[in-house]
Amino acid sequence: MRLLAMPVLLVAALPLVGGRPLDHPHRPRFHFTPERNFMNDPNGLVYLDGEYHLFYQHNPFGDTWGHMSWGHAVSRDLVRWQHLPVALREEDGIMVFSGSAVQDHRNTSGLCGGKGDACLVAVYTGHTATRQTQNLAASQDRGRTWTKYAGNPVLDIGSKDFRDPRVFWHQPTGRWIMVVSLAEERKIRFYGSSDLKRWIHLSDFGPEGYTKGQWECPDLFELVVEGDPARKRWVLDVDVNPGAPLGGSADQYFVGSFDGTTFRNDNPKDLVLWADHGKDFYASLSWSDLPPSDPRRVWIGWMSNWQYANQDPTSPWRGMLTVPRALRLRALSEGLRLIQEPVAELRSLRGSRFSLPAREVGGSVPLELKGDALEITAEFAAGSATSFGLTVRKGVDEETRIGYAVPSAEVFVDRRRSGATSFSPDFSGRHAGALPVEAGRVRLHVLVDRSSIEVFAGGGRTVITDRIFPDPASQGVELWAEGGSASLVSFEAWSLD
Ligand code: FRU
Repeated sequence: MRLLAMPVLLVAALPLVGGRPLDHPHRPRFHFTPERNFMNDPNGLVYLDGEYHLFYQHNPFGDTWGHMSWGHAVSRDLVRWQHLPVALREEDGIMVFSGSAVQDHRNTSGLCGGKGDACLVAVYTGHTATRQTQNLAASQDRGRTWTKYAGNPVLDIGSKDFRDPRVFWHQPTGRWIMVVSLAEERKIRFYGSSDLKRWIHLSDFGPEGYTKGQWECPDLFELVVEGDPARKRWVLDVDVNPGAPLGGSADQYFVGSFDGTTFRNDNPKDLVLWADHGKDFYASLSWSDLPPSDPRRVWIGWMSNWQYANQDPTSPWRGMLTVPRALRLRALSEGLRLIQEPVAELRSLRGSRFSLPAREVGGSVPLELKGDALEITAEFAAGSATSFGLTVRKGVDEETRIGYAVPSAEVFVDRRRSGATSFSPDFSGRHAGALPVEAGRVRLHVLVDRSSIEVFAGGGRTVITDRIFPDPASQGVELWAEGGSASLVSFEAWSLD
């Protein structure tokens, strides 16, 4: 791979992130990656005492999937992460698969000793070739060290496809709820408990929505409808792999009610709602226990796809997470839909600002703006063009296009010429999501970070997340319109560091 053979001198001259050199031209500047080795799903996201904890599926011994353990990092602002030692390791042939973590400040589990205030309990899947069970581990020192519960497993139904417990405290019924996947049956199962140890089966949901592949990594939370604080609905997020429409893995969600026992879908059983329209958004999980002063629901996803997760051309690490995203529900003409936007904390990284006056765009318009770590907000009016948008990471023979196709009313990312694509036959492609023109305008909010693109279109209603692997020298940005001209209404960009 050409990019892996970068001369050492250039690597040494790269800027520091958090005091550590960017050791590879694809290492993002403001997204989370493990220092080295393999990462997949985010796990155990929990807030405690000023710190956001981020655990993640991790192979401590290699840069492909295996020996799954929970890697660990903490942040005080959701943006700058400090790496910590591996929190939970594979032991006795049992891998530590995905799961969640909660504050157990009332020591309901009895695993918190006298230190309830600092106590975290992780609920994870123990995996062997023949069995998946749910297990506990506790930490009494702000997540720094962990002890697996001696009475593990706490839930064993004799299944080999029973995984990814998401646990939360359900205030109205005064008990813990576990949302966990019967992957092969494409069902989400709900359990209740008063102590995190003894679980009672409450109900099952599914198959509904997209019913191919296996179901994994569920999450369940209540959201307020934008502009109508009294209106709340529950979102059940369920990941699908393999066999998603674009190939491989994808993240679907359901909007409905949850009464502490049963989740009911508001929509027809066969309606499929995708959280993201790119190929690299999977296994999203939201933070537990954000402080009462923070009413947000914030999630983060794994930025890869099981079709090529073991082949991303990066080293010495493999795997990357999205930026943390704040979630809302918006009442659209077609119903309530999930809205995602980068958390406001990201603005603290904004460096030099670039803006353009309103103008007409026809053909390609190279900009003075250049970079591989950029935030761009652009607003267009369609005019006579059949498609228009931005090109980023433009180089001699590379480009990644982010655009709007007028006839099909969709926003897209085209990574067919984005750089290295041949490491997997499943990587190259163009990925699109429906987006109507709203009040005559198309709004794009784009994050470019070395080997990734995130597009939040229409104020976060259509999101596309895609990895790209361009040559480091490909830093150009262009505006473009085809089939006529489009009007650029506003354009602002910042370098993010
Ligand atoms: C999803 C997943 C989970 C599992 C983990 C194993 O990407 O397959 O279902 O717990 O990865 O690493």
